[in-house]
Amino acid sequence: MFSLQGKVALVTGGSRGVGLAMAKALAKAGAEVIVNGRAADRAEASAAEIMAGGGKAVALPFDVTDEAAVKAAVADIVARHGRLDILVNNAGRAWSAPLDRFTTEDFTKVVDINLTALFVLAREAARPMAAQGFGRIINIASIIGIVARPSTPAYAASKQAVQGLTRALAVELGPKGVTVNAIAPGYFPTDLNRALQKDGAFSSWIATRTPVGRWGRLEELGPAVVFLASEGASYVTGHTLVVDGGLTVSL
Ligand SMILES: NC(=O)c1ccc[n+]([C@@H]2O[C@H](COP(=O)([O-])OP(=O)(O)OC[C@H]3O[C@@H](n4cnc5c(N)ncnc54)[C@H](OP(=O)(O)O)[C@@H]3O)[C@@H](O)[C@H]2O)c1
Repeated sequence: MFSLQGKVALVTGGSRGVGLAMAKALAKAGAEVIVNGRAADRAEASAAEIMAGGGKAVALPFDVTDEAAVKAAVADIVARHGRLDILVNNAGRAWSAPLDRFTTEDFTKVVDINLTALFVLAREAARPMAAQGFGRIINIASIIGIVARPSTPAYAASKQAVQGLTRALAVELGPKGVTVNAIAPGYFPTDLNRALQKDGAFSSWIATRTPVGRWGRLEELGPAVVFLASEGASYVTGHTLVVDGGLTVSL
């Protein structure tokens, strides 16, 4: 029910952090994983790491905010692999600044990668998915957006919008055999939140604030993405799966 044997999966930002953990889990379930990131050496090293663990993986570096590069990447995947079954729209960035110093340019940069790039990738991936009558699009949102922290207007707005995009695409693509869901992670240690990891007061606040009592472990995101990518989730679409140790349901 959860086997991904024979499936081809593109994980944007799969070269590090959350994306790499998800790429590893998809490969372990049998998918051939295309590992993306801008830095070619890092994407290649991560693909090699997956292969060393017995999985199938190949690197495909490109910038998700470059529309021409996205179109070329999807065409390349279909030409080389014959299909594209799973898109994990994961590449993203955070930006924090007090409101009076938060420039419009910074706001736009965050929205470009966290929201617009997901839309472009989903639109391009949906074509081969609809043609083959099967597809799984999994957008990475965040608990920021469901709740918010100071100085994160662009991140919170873009991540909440990912949930709206997910619902809109689910409604449109359902009749074509393509499901569209989101995962909203809580706090997982990656390069994105290195400063917060070093902040002892923040970490102990997370531990007391989260029912499970700690930060997430990256490998705890794998089962969520495998489930949504699998046959087992054939009747689940438009949903946001929150993986946060209960943080957003506790007051
Ligand atoms: N970590 C958390 O606790 C957490 C919580 C909630 C949501 N998330 C979300 O999870 C996703 C991944 O976050 P992370 O924590 O794993 O971040 P990360 O450690 O900074 O990794 C980001 C990944 O995205 C790639 N990337 C960045 N910009 C790119 C671009 N323009 N085109 C292609 N690839 C790009 C990076 O590779 P290159 O630098 O080589 O391009 C890297 O592989 C993000 O959407 C983030 O918002 C994370």
